Amino acid sequence: MTLRDVEARDFPVLWAWRNAIHDRRPLADHMTWCLTRLAARETVGPWRMAVDASGALVGVLREDYRSPGATEVSIQVNPGRRGKGWGTRILATLPTDRDLWARIAPDNVSSRRIFEHAGFSVVEGMDESHGHVWYARLSGRLDPVETS
Ligand SMILES: CC(C)(COP(=O)(O)OP(=O)(O)OC[C@H]1O[C@@H](n2cnc3c(N)ncnc32)[C@H](O)[C@@H]1OP(=O)(O)O)[C@@H](O)C(=O)NCCC(=O)NCCS
Repeated sequence: MTLRDVEARDFPVLWAWRNAIHDRRPLADHMTWCLTRLAARETVGPWRMAVDASGALVGVLREDYRSPGATEVSIQVNPGRRGKGWGTRILATLPTDRDLWARIAPDNVSSRRIFEHAGFSVVEGMDESHGHVWYARLSGRLDPVETS
């Protein structure tokens, strides 16, 4: 499996994958969101497609920089390829030098499972955000403290 940057030709596929889980979003709204996210990739964070050895698309991985050192991760696996270890393999590619966070619906068992496999754990005591549970994997890196 390899990861490559999302390109405009992937937008219809991402729309189809998204519509398989959520209420159908108008295509125009989806395209606008994708174009904005793609244009902001350098500053907002990587957004990549996972591709198997035959060149087929198996998933998408997004890293959104929320603040210096804190990145929110989201993942989607092609609906036709779920339950075969792709999600686990994709998350294994995440960087280890940054604090990573993820918001997961409590009943999303497979998502909770793959994030736990990747070393994330529930952040206790954090308010649920729109019914989601926060998971985190902290890098353990200590920022240098500036002294005057
Ligand atoms: C969540 C998601 C990315 C998982 O990808 P996947 O490729 O299906 O995941 P994997 O096959 O690598 O692993 C699934 C794990 O969940 C487990 N699982 C799935 N359904 C389960 C259930 N009902 N009860 C218990 N375990 C379950 C599997 O056994 C497996 O765990 P294991 O490796 O310990 O056996 C995929 O389902 C998806 O794209 N969902 C829609 C988008 C989403 O919810 N994204 C996450 C929010 S950021």
